[in-house]
Amino acid sequence: MSLNSEVLNWKYKNFLENKNNKFIKSEILKILSSETIDKAYNTISKWDGYSPTPLISLNKLNEKIKINKIFYKDESKRFHLKSFKALGGAYAVEKIIKGNNKKIISTATAGNHGRSVAWGSQKNSLECKIFISEFVSESRAEVMRSFGADVIRVKGNYEDSLNECIEQSNKNKWQIVQDVAWEDYKLVPKLTMAGYSVMMKEISEQIKNEKISHVILQAGVGGMAAAMVAGIARYLEYVPKIIIVEPDSAACVLESVKEGKIKKISIEKESIMGGMSCGEVSLLPWEILRNSVNFCVTVSDDYISKTVKHLANGDFSDEKIIGGECSTPGIASLVGLSNDDEVKNKINLNESSNVLLFGCEGDADEALYQKLLSE
Ligand SMILES: Cc1ncc(COP(=O)(O)O)c(C=O)c1O
Repeated sequence: MSLNSEVLNWKYKNFLENKNNKFIKSEILKILSSETIDKAYNTISKWDGYSPTPLISLNKLNEKIKINKIFYKDESKRFHLKSFKALGGAYAVEKIIKGNNKKIISTATAGNHGRSVAWGSQKNSLECKIFISEFVSESRAEVMRSFGADVIRVKGNYEDSLNECIEQSNKNKWQIVQDVAWEDYKLVPKLTMAGYSVMMKEISEQIKNEKISHVILQAGVGGMAAAMVAGIARYLEYVPKIIIVEPDSAACVLESVKEGKIKKISIEKESIMGGMSCGEVSLLPWEILRNSVNFCVTVSDDYISKTVKHLANGDFSDEKIIGGECSTPGIASLVGLSNDDEVKNKINLNESSNVLLFGCEGDADEALYQKLLSE
C-alpha cells in the first residue's frame, strides 16, 4: 500500500475538548518558575557533550496530510541516552545531592528515566538503586547496569516498582529521585521538569521566524507535557493550541481533564509505549496541564510499528529517523485528527498550520525497536 492511501486510513481513538481551558502564563510560571527553568538550561548546556537535538521537518508527511509544516524534535540524539529523559533525572540528581557524594540514589522507572538517573549518579560518583517492574525489558535493564546502577526487578507493574522503591528507600535512607510527584515530594519532580524544558528553549531558537500553531505532547504521568507548557510560557510570545496524546489504554490525563480533577484509571492492558502506560497524572504536572491543555486525544498501539518503519525509511522526511515506540503517537494522532474533517475544523488544523511534534526517544530499547521494524 502506498504511504498516501495508507496514512489516509489512520484514525485516533478518543478526542476531548478541555472545557476549563484558560492559558495564564503567570499562573504556569508560578508552578515552574522562569528562574528554575533558566537555571536548568544554564547548567545542562554546560554539560560535556551537550548540543541541541535536531528539529526535523517532516516535509513528506505534511504534503500528504495537507498541513503547512510539521516540526519533529528528534530526541534520539539526546546525549548518548537516546531520549529526552536524559535531561530530567540526571539534572535532578546533580541538584539534589549538592556535591554530597555519600548519598545513595534510588528510583523506579519504565526505562528511560532510570537510565538518566543512573547516568547522573555515575557522573557524580554516587551509588544508584533502580527498581523496575516485570514489564521493563532486559535490554533496558542492561543499559542501566552499564551506567553502574544496581537494578532490582519487582513483581507487578510500574506502581508496584515505585511502592517497593519508596519502602526500601525509607528503610535505608536512600535519596529517591523520582519523576512523579506526591504530597511532600515535589522538589525533585520539579527539577526533572525544569531539565526537560531545555527542549523548548532549543525549539524557540530553532524555529526562527516560524510560528507554531499546534503542539502535540505525549503524556505518561504528564511531566514532559507540563514542562513543555511551562517552556511555551517562558520562551514563546504566543500560545499554540496544546494537545495531549496518550495510549487509549492509559488515558489518565484525558480522564482527569474530563472530570476537572485527577482521576486514577486502571490499566487493563499495558501499551507497547511503556513509558506512557501510566494510570495517574502526577500532581505537579496536573497543576499546569488542567487549564493549559486545549484538547486530548488517544491512539491505539496499531500504528506504532508502521510509524517506526516510515520514520526509519525516510517516508516522512528527507532524512531517515530512528524513532522508538514513544516517538510514534504524536505522528499517529496528528494523522488521525487530520483525517477527520469535523475535528480538524474544530481544532483549526489546516493548510496554514505549523505543528510541533516530539520524537521523545530513539531505539532506547534496541530489542523492541528491531522487533517493531521487522513486524
Ligand atoms: C520514553 C518516554 N517515557 C515517558 C514518557 C512520558 O513522560 P511523562 O511520564 O513525564 O509524561 C514519554 C513521553 O511522553 C516517553 O517518550
